Amino acid sequence: MHIAGARPNFPKAAPVIRALERHGVAQRLVHTGQHYDERMSEVFFRQLGLPEPDENLAVGSGSHARQTAEMMTRLETYFQDTGPALVVVYGDVNSTLAATLVATKLAIPVAHVEAGLRSFNRAMPEEINRLVTDRLSDLLFATSPEALVQLGNEGIAAQKVHFVGNPMIDTLLANRDRVEPATIRDQLGLSERYVVATLHRPANVDDAADAAELAKAMHGVAEQIEVVLPLHPRGRHRLAAAGLFPHPGIRVVDPQGYLEFLGLIQGARAVLTDSGGVQEETTVLGVPCLTLRAETERPVTITHGTNRLVTRAGLADEVRALLAADRRTADWPVPPLWDGRAGERIAEVIAEFVGSR
Ligand code: UD1
Ligand code: UDP
Repeated sequence: MHIAGARPNFPKAAPVIRALERHGVAQRLVHTGQHYDERMSEVFFRQLGLPEPDENLAVGSGSHARQTAEMMTRLETYFQDTGPALVVVYGDVNSTLAATLVATKLAIPVAHVEAGLRSFNRAMPEEINRLVTDRLSDLLFATSPEALVQLGNEGIAAQKVHFVGNPMIDTLLANRDRVEPATIRDQLGLSERYVVATLHRPANVDDAADAAELAKAMHGVAEQIEVVLPLHPRGRHRLAAAGLFPHPGIRVVDPQGYLEFLGLIQGARAVLTDSGGVQEETTVLGVPCLTLRAETERPVTITHGTNRLVTRAGLADEVRALLAADRRTADWPVPPLWDGRAGERIAEVIAEFVGSR
């Protein structure tokens, strides 16, 4: 039983579900309803060919405790009614944590896809979700070598851990030929020279002072190059109140569909982001990525990719330096096993696990 609920879950789950179909494993998909806007959820089901969820718990938004508790209550009933042999959770969102806690207490084994990532910053809600999920999981699927090492450092038994590569990159590689950078650029009326930005981390958008600093930084970028910002609903009000937009050089648009967004990245001179997944996607596409965070749980995107951490105060200068240099296009070392076959590796382990029980 797969649990998904927030935008980044969908491209991670799609290749695992598809590969398990090939293994003939009976599957159910539960949508928690953490994300519910068409642009944050349904569009991914359509574009990625995900099956219709067997159940939508429709929990909606709320504080961490309220949202997680709502999910837990509804998942408990659903797990008791359906009796899954294994619960598969993805990434580090509240849906991941809720399902892990409930399944574990019902003695249902849990598989965690994208285990072992650590920012070492417990002010991030995702870090708490990762720590708890990994501690409780029975199967842990790591996307990078350092995640493997970290799980070992935390005393997690090696036989539970599998280094499989990155299923989000499976989805990227499988859809690469469907992506049309020029089409989305024309649709949005962008010039050929632009950067794309995504901003939704609480540390950037929740507090008025942070948002004001971010607005200033983005205005410094907009003086140099056109900015398109597909804006996550979380930051919309605060970033507008902070004066980030309206601004003549910043094109704020709704969250984009998966294919449209990849098109935007592919055609961009650079990407400015605080997203986790986008650091990975830019790494594989070879597009320079400036990450507006103090740390990353995905250091492999720096050592083997195009990612760099930047401060808000330093952003405009970093963009200036980047625009003065050649766009990096070829011959960078993609992280090991980010080869489009992670879903298949995960499915093999899961099929054997459920088959043996
Ligand atoms: C969540 C994840 C975060 C992930 C992000 C991906 C947690 C703790 N955080 O953050 O790790 O990077 O998803 O996008 O799980 N909202 C809408 N429509 C929607 C969904 C949300 O308007 O469809 C608004 C609501 O005002 C809501 C706010 O966005 O309160 C935040 O949503 P929530 O799911 O709580 O957290 P995210 O910031 O989306
Ligand atoms: N994404 C998208 N449209 C957008 C912004 C992001 O399809 O407008 C995709 C992106 O390509 C990646 C995923 O959403 O596959 C990342 O989700 P997000 O940044 O919301 O979450 P995070 O990875 O930070 O948890």
